[in-house]
Amino acid sequence: MANTSKKIDNILDNLHEKYHNINQDTETHLEGLLHSKPINYWDYIHTDALLNLQIQRSIHADEMVFIMYHQINELLFKMILWEIDQVAKKEKIDAAFFSEKLMRISRYFDMLTSSFSIMKDGMDVAQYNKFRKTLTPASGFQSAQYRKVEFASTELINLIDNRYRATIDRNTPYEHAFDHLYWQAAGKDYNTGKKSYFLNAFEDRYKEEFIRFTKFYNTHNLWTKFKTLTEDVKTNKTLIKAMRHYDYTVNIKWVMAHYNTANHYLNINGKTAEATGGSEWVKYMHPKYQKRIFFPDLWSEKELKHWGEDL
Ligand code: HEM
Repeated sequence: MANTSKKIDNILDNLHEKYHNINQDTETHLEGLLHSKPINYWDYIHTDALLNLQIQRSIHADEMVFIMYHQINELLFKMILWEIDQVAKKEKIDAAFFSEKLMRISRYFDMLTSSFSIMKDGMDVAQYNKFRKTLTPASGFQSAQYRKVEFASTELINLIDNRYRATIDRNTPYEHAFDHLYWQAAGKDYNTGKKSYFLNAFEDRYKEEFIRFTKFYNTHNLWTKFKTLTEDVKTNKTLIKAMRHYDYTVNIKWVMAHYNTANHYLNINGKTAEATGGSEWVKYMHPKYQKRIFFPDLWSEKELKHWGEDL
């Protein structure tokens, strides 16, 4: 009993210190506890709000799978960004911390990769090819969080379209670099400079936000963070393995699972259908054309040259 009251006294002292530090009255806060409601699962998880966000545009039942699966993906992107943010904001990083975070993020991407089969085998092709007509010109391409994962993972130069990379460096004006990001190729005619509706709409909605985001991540992305580590941390074998694992998991495994899904739905009797976003998707989506690699220095010349070729 005496022990319990000592513990409570201790908590009260700590609470008092906490509230005193922020100029608050401890007594009022303690009294507030007398009137507060106990929390329930549904209040805390906001299940009502969450389960009211699935709204179909068509009459086809499998559109529900499509909507929910995309929403689950967005939640996982948010979890990934949450982890990257912790690495970005940490001052002193050791190999164990960095490796652990990279493996966590990779496991989220593993979930994204393996769960593509939930869609691929769980959504009727004929239904998809009907309801997707109500979604044009929207595309997963317009997922801002996916773009943020990329901006937060590597330096801008590694996201520049492979064909223009040699002409761009850190002194290139941001606007110009932005206009040559690899994903511009999904909606831009490089001969005329004309952008498609879905690309213009995406930029109108998110470009300013991307600029703000990249201002911070320009110097805090995973690749730059890694490069500024001390020599003994940078050469840690477990960390290098985790870095390569993450790069491969996102830029080969996820990209291929996505490509194979697109192929399943859009390659009908050997004929490729136009995607909702309207890109030349067969060429655009394959890793061997995009060659996006977050941590290029951690791969050999040969590995870089043949990126995605054996798939
Ligand atoms: C039936 C399922 C799917 C099909 C057929 C499909 C197809 C495509 C196609 C063809 C593109 C190229 C842009 C375009 O022309 O629209 C694209 C881009 C994209 N999709 Fe999907 N997709 C599917 C599911 C998903 C899911 C579940 C996500 C997760 C959010 C997603 C995220 C993305 C992203 C991030 C891009 C841009 C990737 C890049 O720029 O390389 N897609 N998708």
